[in-house]
Formats: sequence, C-alpha cells, structure tokens
Amino acid sequence: MHEKDLIKTFGSLVDDALLVIGHDLIITDANAASIRLLGDKVIGTNLNDHIVYSGLAEELSTCLESRKPVEFPTTPTNNHYRHIRARMIVWGKDTVIMLLLDMTLQHNLEKMRRDFVANVSHELRSPLTSLIGFVETMQNAPDMERADRQRFLRIMDEEAKRMSRLINDLMSLSKVEADEHIIPEGKVFVKSLLMATINVLSNRALKSGHDIRFHDYRGQKATEPVIRGGNDEIMEVFQNLLDNALKYSFPASIIKVEMRDDANGRLAINIINQGEGITEKHIPRLTERFYRVDKGRSRQMGGTGLGLAIVKHIINKHRGELKITSALNKETVFSVILPYATD
Ligand SMILES: Nc1ncnc2c1ncn2[C@@H]1O[C@H](COP(=O)(O)OP(=O)(O)OP(=O)(O)O)[C@@H](O)[C@H]1O
Ligand SMILES: [Mg+2]
Repeated sequence: MHEKDLIKTFGSLVDDALLVIGHDLIITDANAASIRLLGDKVIGTNLNDHIVYSGLAEELSTCLESRKPVEFPTTPTNNHYRHIRARMIVWGKDTVIMLLLDMTLQHNLEKMRRDFVANVSHELRSPLTSLIGFVETMQNAPDMERADRQRFLRIMDEEAKRMSRLINDLMSLSKVEADEHIIPEGKVFVKSLLMATINVLSNRALKSGHDIRFHDYRGQKATEPVIRGGNDEIMEVFQNLLDNALKYSFPASIIKVEMRDDANGRLAINIINQGEGITEKHIPRLTERFYRVDKGRSRQMGGTGLGLAIVKHIINKHRGELKITSALNKETVFSVILPYATD
C-alpha cells in the first residue's frame, strides 16, 4: 500500500492520533484524531512544532536505521497537561508512521491512586504516632499522677477513635464506590428520614446553641416525598451535611433545612448555614477525598475530609445532584437534588 493511502484507509480505525512523517520530521499526512490533539495545521509542518521532546530527531534516525519500533513519552506543545506515549514504526525507505497514544486518563488515575495511598498513610500515621508516644510515656512513668494519667488516656481514646472513624469512612466510601452503578431499589420517605436525622443531631445542636429550622416549601397539599434509594445511605448524606453545617457555622447561629421542588420536577433539600463561607476556588474541590479548606482546623474538629466524598458518591448512585453555593462571609448552601420515585 502506498503511504498516501495509509491514513485514508486506517486513519479512522483508531481513536488515537496517527501521523506519517518523513526523514526530515515533516508531517505528510495525519488522521482526524491528530488534528483534534495537535491542532488543524499539522500537515506540511515540522513535528517538532507540535510535540515537546528534545531527542525527536535522534529517535527518528534510530527508527529508520535500526528498522525497529521506538517509543517515548511526550506532551503536545499546545497542552502540557496531556501525557502522550509516542510510537514510531518504519514504513518504506525513509518514512515512519507515528501513533500518539493519549495516556492522560491512566496517568491521572495512577496519580490519584498514589495520592490516595499517601493521604491514608499520613492520616493514620498521625494518631498512631501520638498513641505510641503516650503509651511509652506511661510505661516509663509507673507512678504518674492520677490526673495526668486520666488526661493521657483521654487523648489516647480520642486518637484511637479518630483512626476508627477514618477506617469506617474509608469502608463506606469503597462500598458506595463499588456499587455506584446499581440503582437502589428500596423506597425512602425523605421527609420522615430528614426529621429523624435532625432529631438525632438535636442534642449536639442544643450544646452548641444552634437552632435547626426545618421548612417544607412544597405547598400544603404536598404528600410525603418518596425516592428510590437506600435509607441508610440517604441518612448518611443528611448526617454528613448537617454535621458540616454545625461544625463550620457561627456558634449559636440558625441552620435552615428546606424542602422544595426544583425547576425540573425533582426534590431539592437545601441545608443552609451562616459561617465564614467558602471561597469560590475551593468549591469544586470540596468533594475530593481528604480535601479540606483549613486542614488544621478541620482535623482539630475530628474531621477526616471524607464526608463530602461519601455524600457525592451516594448522590451519584441515586442519580441525583449535589450543588454547593457559598462565598466568603456569605451563607453556605448545600443542595441535594433527587429524582422522585415514579412508581
Ligand atoms: N457548611 C460548610 N461551611 C464551610 N465549609 C465547609 C462546609 N462544609 C464543608 N466545608 C469544607 O469542606 C471540607 C470538606 O468537608 P468534608 O465533610 O468532606 O470533611 P470534614 O468535615 O473535614 O471531615 P469529615 O466529614 O470526614 O468528618 C471541610 O474540611 C470544610 O473545609
Ligand atoms: Mg464533614
């Protein structure tokens, strides 16, 4: 087959960029994916203008001389965030065919996995180091004052509970992630569940002087809203959001819980609190695992930074949506939007 027909015949067969390159690095032909990746003016230009790799000419000579395939990592000049694996094979006397495999997704997933392991290890190590330290101190001071011993034991208890909370949250997260694609079949009576959750937290609210006010705006004739889902999971969503509202709002402020019909005929539950608010740049990242606006402060309050990640996955599983609106020193609104059960 002539090189001219190559792209015409096989170009659309692959989703990745396929290029024909001469010995002078000039691109003589390219498929549609190449144009998507590198821009619309690739044919007739030098490959060096499109990908960043200092040893390009050497790789090409090696490929042409050895007649063996070569492979190297690179990035497109127009987008340094993409990770490409380039493969060249010889075609004819002084022409090579180049395949640019976009590895960005794999690269990012791998990075997420590494970050996750590093985060988990770090979060477990801090309480563990503290526990070991206190055990050693107590072992070396058998005649320690009773009051000191009580204080140390209290801290050890807190640290152990922090580790236990972290492990429970990790298990919750991995469970909901594993079956996120399965639409839950049970029925959830949302208003009753929401009232029950508020009730569970009422003692805590009383202690911090918070006033949780519920209001159903769906009109007087509205019946109990029903969605398809899992009771425990939806309760976990409300618990996490109310826990955050209590933790991150001004002491003794009002927390509003509203129930509404959204513009698209779905059920919206808004949890609104008055606090320091959240700057815009943090908002899209809040549902990432371990993401905390003020790490020190959140840890001090016993947070693991997994709450909203769990919330997000549970809502996804229920084919719903989580909307967050806030700004510095403005009220913060977390909206859980869920489709009503149709049968
Ligand atoms: N209502 C809120 N107002 C202001 N900031 C909030 C609010 N809710 C969450 N945040 C911010 O988002 C971060 C992530 O919340 P998330 O619930 O995932 O973690 P956490 O509360 O720190 O820990 P955990 O929920 O695991 O105990 C928090 O650390 C906080 O910085
Ligand atoms: Mg939380």
